[in-house]
Amino acid sequence: MRVTAATIEEVGAPLRVEELEIDDPRPGEARVRIVASGVCHTDAIAQEGDFPYPFPGVLGHEGAGIVEAVGDGVRNVAVGDAVVIGWPWCGECRNCREGQPRYCMQIGPLVGRGTREDGSTALRRPDGSPVHSHFFGQSSFATYSIVDAKVLVKLPEGFPVETAGPLACGLATGAGAVWNNVRPEVGSSLVVYGTGAVGLAAVMAAVNSGATTIIAVDRHESRLQLARELGATDTINVNEADPVQAVQEICGGHADYSLECTGNVKVLRQAADSVGLRGRCVIIGGAPAGAEFTLDHMSTLWGKTVAGVLGGEGTSDRLIGALARLHLTGRFPYDRLVARFRLDEVNDAMARSAAGDVLKPILVMEH
Ligand SMILES: NC(=O)c1ccc[n+]([C@@H]2O[C@H](COP(=O)([O-])OP(=O)(O)OC[C@H]3O[C@@H](n4cnc5c(N)ncnc54)[C@H](O)[C@@H]3O)[C@@H](O)[C@H]2O)c1
Ligand SMILES: [Zn+2]
Ligand SMILES: [Zn+2]
Repeated sequence: MRVTAATIEEVGAPLRVEELEIDDPRPGEARVRIVASGVCHTDAIAQEGDFPYPFPGVLGHEGAGIVEAVGDGVRNVAVGDAVVIGWPWCGECRNCREGQPRYCMQIGPLVGRGTREDGSTALRRPDGSPVHSHFFGQSSFATYSIVDAKVLVKLPEGFPVETAGPLACGLATGAGAVWNNVRPEVGSSLVVYGTGAVGLAAVMAAVNSGATTIIAVDRHESRLQLARELGATDTINVNEADPVQAVQEICGGHADYSLECTGNVKVLRQAADSVGLRGRCVIIGGAPAGAEFTLDHMSTLWGKTVAGVLGGEGTSDRLIGALARLHLTGRFPYDRLVARFRLDEVNDAMARSAAGDVLKPILVMEH
């Protein structure tokens, strides 16, 4: 059937809206009518060629919509269900079987291969030439998406589908890193470097935890203002103060935990230096391919942990389900981050996100 999609032809090229053909669902697959898709910084990283994905292809990995058709053997969702498309996972490797699907040993091909396992794409041009699909298993910058049905997460009754997509990646990543990895103790201090969508989700998750000092760091005053409104107890503008020193002043010493949500390795060093003896620094931001970082040996030796966290860890069902329910009760007000665009405004949405004008763009599809 016909689908409208924003395709990218080659590294660095702008996205272009065109009509493509999409497959019918095969066994185990579902076709989702995308209501809206969030735009994540990782889409821009892929556009710039710093995330391996073959072109021409369709980006987008924060899709939400309605299940329109299912293939044989699909039992976890039914036609008409409102769903978020979660991160892909194979279900068979050691990490999937041990309940850590974010670290699926097939995650590289599943997010970046651009095809199904058998090498087929779900999308093609009217002349029959294939267009890569399955970006993060979904390629949601399109009106429809073919997905592995087991990654779908059903939304609670009454949840607004249009704004649900960002729960799949950016918001789940920031919030899940706090709840599943940091697990702040009662009375602990936590500093979040970078208050984009990921960092602000970490702030909102920390507010729903026992952490009592929640410090947000950014270079945009408007984002720090929003961080305060969302529950940050302190903010640091890096244009005005050295953040490592400012953290020391706020906490009366090092912070217990830090989260790097900018993707800049210089900031990662600041995040690592913000925690001390037995402190934990969590790396979330995606830096350009091949980036390296250094640490101070002595202060790391003193029981410090520096850990990478993918997708907020845990499982999509539990994490997205929790975020959706907290949102419905006003405890995760992420809708304050969302700005709506049309699919044909995708380049503008990405540019405005990069410029810092917009926190979480969503592309609302017209059907
Ligand atoms: N690990 C994962 O699984 C995962 C998942 C999703 C996104 N990411 C990555 O997380 C990062 C954040 O994503 P986002 O959508 O929130 O991006 P974003 O661009 O909206 O946010 C980044 C924020 O960092 C701030 N910043 C930049 N330089 C800074 C500096 N020197 N000091 C302090 N703040 C600074 C920016 O002003 C911005 O507010 C990206 O790198 C993205 O690729 C990782
Ligand atoms: Zn993402
Ligand atoms: Zn797996």
